Amino acid sequence: MVILPSVLMLALSATLCLQCSMADIDFTSQTTIVTGASSGIGAAFARALAKRGSDVILVARRLDRLQELASEVERDHGVRATPIALDLSVRGAGQALADEVATRGLTVTGLVNNAGFGTDGPFHEEDPDRLQDEIAVDVANLVDISRAFIEPLRQSGRGVLVNVASMAAYLPGPDMAVYSAAKAFVLSFTEALWYESRSNGLRVLSLAPGLTRTEFFDDLAGGAYNGSYQTPGQVVETGLRSLDRGNRRPSVVSGRGNAIASELGRLFTRRRAVLLSGSFGARSRNAGIAAAHH
Ligand SMILES: NC(=O)c1ccc[n+]([C@@H]2O[C@H](COP(=O)([O-])OP(=O)(O)OC[C@H]3O[C@@H](n4cnc5c(N)ncnc54)[C@H](OP(=O)(O)O)[C@@H]3O)[C@@H](O)[C@H]2O)c1
Repeated sequence: MVILPSVLMLALSATLCLQCSMADIDFTSQTTIVTGASSGIGAAFARALAKRGSDVILVARRLDRLQELASEVERDHGVRATPIALDLSVRGAGQALADEVATRGLTVTGLVNNAGFGTDGPFHEEDPDRLQDEIAVDVANLVDISRAFIEPLRQSGRGVLVNVASMAAYLPGPDMAVYSAAKAFVLSFTEALWYESRSNGLRVLSLAPGLTRTEFFDDLAGGAYNGSYQTPGQVVETGLRSLDRGNRRPSVVSGRGNAIASELGRLFTRRRAVLLSGSFGARSRNAGIAAAHH
């Protein structure tokens, strides 16, 4: 009786290890799209992938920033970097990007869906157009771009599909209701794709940053939150380290404290969890606002 659980554990780890190759991903002669590459986590992804030998396709609206980054990574890492200016709040970005990529004669082996922004405040006060743009960038076009490139990614069988979610994905977020729900979508969608991709070599990962020092907070009405911040480089390192371990896990949270906090929701009833999320969020936001006024 006592050995049964141990046998089960052994069988479970053996099954998991069938899916894990410990070799780092070889990015040389790969071409990876990074959306939202004009700043923050996306720019850090582009630099890290280029450093590891991947050609990169850099997508965002601010072309000047993309061109600057493209010159930098070509000079520093000898890869090809292709900037593409695209507004991801416009319907049909997947086909538009696929057309741009085809025009340049590029074959895509990897995709990092990182572009995104948040809105905050009580839902009834939020600008409806901005909420639509948020859903378009964070959700609808993330799906559309994934769909547009999933075949080449599957055929390549050695690239990555990373979707950047957020710690906000793990709990409902009062005063960030749409953003949290959007990121919950990204988490769920990506974990499902992870399952569908287990046998074809494509490594799929939902990467959830916690508070990270980027321009993200410039867009928020409440500004920066109070708390412990990571750098974009730390977030990217978490993602790449997880991918290097193989297609072992469908999702990862960046930062040990963030990873623990993201599990807390499971300990409570849904009612208690949303009450805690609401009061913690409000405290962190108010402390951030107070700090900004000093
Ligand atoms: N920073 C954090 O604390 C944090 C925490 C959790 C999750 N995240 C997630 O991390 C991802 C990256 O954000 P970040 O922190 O690096 O913020 P960021 O510095 O503001 O970067 C956001 C990127 O998204 C692009 N983007 C926004 N709207 C776009 C549009 N309509 N069309 C095309 N590109 C667009 C921006 O480019 P352009 O403005 O040039 O178009 C920019 O490159 C986002 O998905 C965000 O939700 C961030």
